[in-house]
Amino acid sequence: MISFMSGRRRLLPCVGLGLLAVLCWVWVSFASLSGEQLHLEVLDVADRGAFQPQSALSDMEFGSVASYRGPGNSDRRSNKELPIILWWSGGLFPHFPGDTERIDCATSSCLVTSNRKVQLYKRTASIIFYGTDFRAYEAPLPRLRHQTWALFHEESPMNNYILSHGPGIRLFNYTATFRRESDYPLTLQWLPSLEYLLEPVAVSLEEKNRLRREGLAPVLYMQSHCDVPSDRDRYVQELMKYIQVDSYGKCLNNRPLPEHLEDTATATGEEPGFMNFVARYKFHLALENGVCPDYMTEKLWRPLHQGCVPVYRGSPVVADWMPNDHSVIIIDNFPSPKALADFLKHLDENDDEYVKYLEFKDPRRITNARLLEGLETREWGVNDMSKPNYLNGFECYVCEQENARLAAERAYRKAQKRNQAPQPKMASNSHMGCPLPSPGYGDVKDLPPDDGWLQIWPQDYWQSLDQAEGLESLIRHNESDPSLLWKHIQNIAVSRARGKH
Ligand SMILES: *[C@@H]1O[C@H](CO)[C@@H](O)[C@H](O)[C@H]1NC(C)=O
Ligand SMILES: *[C@@H]1O[C@H](CO)[C@@H](O)[C@H](O)[C@H]1NC(C)=O
Repeated sequence: MISFMSGRRRLLPCVGLGLLAVLCWVWVSFASLSGEQLHLEVLDVADRGAFQPQSALSDMEFGSVASYRGPGNSDRRSNKELPIILWWSGGLFPHFPGDTERIDCATSSCLVTSNRKVQLYKRTASIIFYGTDFRAYEAPLPRLRHQTWALFHEESPMNNYILSHGPGIRLFNYTATFRRESDYPLTLQWLPSLEYLLEPVAVSLEEKNRLRREGLAPVLYMQSHCDVPSDRDRYVQELMKYIQVDSYGKCLNNRPLPEHLEDTATATGEEPGFMNFVARYKFHLALENGVCPDYMTEKLWRPLHQGCVPVYRGSPVVADWMPNDHSVIIIDNFPSPKALADFLKHLDENDDEYVKYLEFKDPRRITNARLLEGLETREWGVNDMSKPNYLNGFECYVCEQENARLAAERAYRKAQKRNQAPQPKMASNSHMGCPLPSPGYGDVKDLPPDDGWLQIWPQDYWQSLDQAEGLESLIRHNESDPSLLWKHIQNIAVSRARGKH
């Protein structure tokens, strides 16, 4: 029991919260502690043979009433009358303690829970899923017509390619993803603030040039996750033929990390020793583990913060979010690794050209209105206790949407002539839609058949499509057992093969 309770709030989702990781860690330990306390209380009750809740729901009606209420919220319904939102991925449930909470959002209220017993309740209006955890063979079935599905996925596309296929993403009615097209976009999730970008250059150009004369490479690479869909090492390996790169991580390692830094090399935190160490480099290779529009992480923002120039591959539309039009070097703008290396050498030897990339440190040189507006208008904060975090924010988004939908449906039932039937709403490929992984360098047809990357990622991508189609079929057939997924996938394959002949 205890290990179940503490195991429920795993560390894994917290890693995705990046800069919040430390905070999250504290929260996790705290939460598992409460799990133990809860366990004791439950035992107490059982021992005394006292009140036993009849169902998950009656248990929930007694849940505490949160004191916070949005300023425009005049929802006076009791807990019993509120729509329920179920967090299918209980590990992410953003409340503590307990598994059920009333939330009073900007204009309306809901009951939220991580108790899966409410799955098939009429009052359960929506189910929230964490993309990284979402498995077609574990989906809550049958899917009830009145229930919407909501997807929270801020992490890498590599964690779940089901969501990158039309049949996968269209299962969801609401999304919070890194894409700006999503319903509740998390695009700038790794950028804490404008001040973070404006922080003065950590190591002066004079000092960087002095270090260069001492033999420090112009370019830094530090990566310990090597077998990834973006296949970044294949590109960096080629680049290394033409320019000196110091590589400290596990991938393409050519230098030992100083001993005192060993523990922090893979940490997402910003430990000062580590930060000072990497800030000495003029250029940071910043290649995301997966390529997808608007998927940008600390690999990009951290060098900008430190005043190093990111050499970037990841979101193909990264330029849309940069402080101005010369603050990042985009790998895919160069015809070859050699051409990129030549350009980096040119900047390395021409101080006037190099410093142009750091002009955005002057606030007047931050000219990108989209970036400024994005930071200004997002309602959630990063490392900012004065703002809600994006889990609570998305939960409220879903709550408000559901209350609005339920009201529109009631109005329609009352007066069909005067009111329009509410339109169905679902996600599209623009909410995720990451492309088929391609080799980091060269053409897929030139790779040997036993190439490690080739054997993993393209297959993973297409198998995910099978699973998305299989789940769609399970839902269409009103199946209640998700483990029938494999049978449905097989049936689809068989009928396709028949169709061809
Ligand atoms: C939710 O999405 C599904 C498709 O996955 C759709 O059939 C359903 O009508 C949508 N529900 C609402 C309320 O929009
Ligand atoms: C779907 O399955 C559930 C439970 O198996 C059943 O209660 C419901 O009536 C079915 N719905 C339809 C439309 O067949």
